[in-house]
Amino acid sequence: MLLRPRRVLVGGALVAALTGCGGDAPVTPPPAPASATPLRELAAPRGLRIGTAVGSNFSQHETYMLILRREFNMLTAENAMKFDALRPSRSEYRFQTADAMVDFAAANGMQVRGHTLVWHSQLPQWLTSGTWTADEARAILNEHIATVMGRYRGRIVAWDVVNEAVDDSGRPRTSFWFNHLGREYIGRAFHAARAADPQAALFYNDYNLEFPGPKQDSVYALVSDLKARGVPIDGIGFQGHFQYGSGTPSRQTLRATFDRFAALGLRIQITELDIRIPLPATPEKLETQASNYRDVVSVCVETPACDAVVVWGLHDGNSWVPSTFPGWGDALLFDAAFNPKRAYQVLNDYLAGR
Ligand code: XIL
Repeated sequence: MLLRPRRVLVGGALVAALTGCGGDAPVTPPPAPASATPLRELAAPRGLRIGTAVGSNFSQHETYMLILRREFNMLTAENAMKFDALRPSRSEYRFQTADAMVDFAAANGMQVRGHTLVWHSQLPQWLTSGTWTADEARAILNEHIATVMGRYRGRIVAWDVVNEAVDDSGRPRTSFWFNHLGREYIGRAFHAARAADPQAALFYNDYNLEFPGPKQDSVYALVSDLKARGVPIDGIGFQGHFQYGSGTPSRQTLRATFDRFAALGLRIQITELDIRIPLPATPEKLETQASNYRDVVSVCVETPACDAVVVWGLHDGNSWVPSTFPGWGDALLFDAAFNPKRAYQVLNDYLAGR
């Protein structure tokens, strides 16, 4: 039977749903997948979830939605669950987009990673420019965690409770939370999170932890201390924002890092993987990128504690990379026209055992 897209309204936005009936005019079909078997089906028997960060294309683009539900079984909101997105004012919460993503995930057999409750960035002005005592800041933090996690209790399997609390040199990062509460905000956040949803796995998430160095050591000390003090932390998220080639950790390096943190009894997820290329991309660069992707994913598959890889965006047409790292781009598995890249193909072959 020929599948034709039918337009339906979900969460107030127009999306296409695959259905066998419906009378709308046919639309251009998405590019053929590189393989008959989607990544999510190949990853499942290997004990791996494969996810993507979902941003402004969500429910706006038919091909995007088709690839999203076909290839991935985990979803992170790229921005919609951040403090500034959810909290236009102290008393108001805006859950519409986050709700739509959680509903979509449930309807399509996808798990959701919650991102993120406590971070130095993307905080609203009413918070950062207000004058607060430590008690008030603590109350806002507790209330935020209780309200947001409470809303999605039982529907979000893992939360990045604290994001990027350590700076590049390994020192505690100054932030709204640090300035008001000192380092105690970290442990308090995890306790509040456990109380808000006892079933959710609670993660500390950060970047540049994959290579050995002062930042990795500092985060190791931080999470060791949390564990030793009985703070409820379940896992560590390695963001995985890499440069292609030697800017991506080798299998040996990544394995040593994962073993180091897994030995603390922590679960591991790769939470924001992208592997950027200096533009213009060439077939050679794309080939190197593809083997970088395979290396990273294969170490996760081989590490019992590692059970998920989330790519930070679905396609090169919508990625934070070009605006954040000028001159770099093409960091994802699908190109700007939604064609699967070599990285997709190589990953698909690897997961299929080819
Ligand atoms: C980025 C988003 O991709 C952008 O759209 C946004 O403008 C800024 O934040 N580490 C994180 C993510 O934990 O939340 C960031 O996401 C990328 C770096």
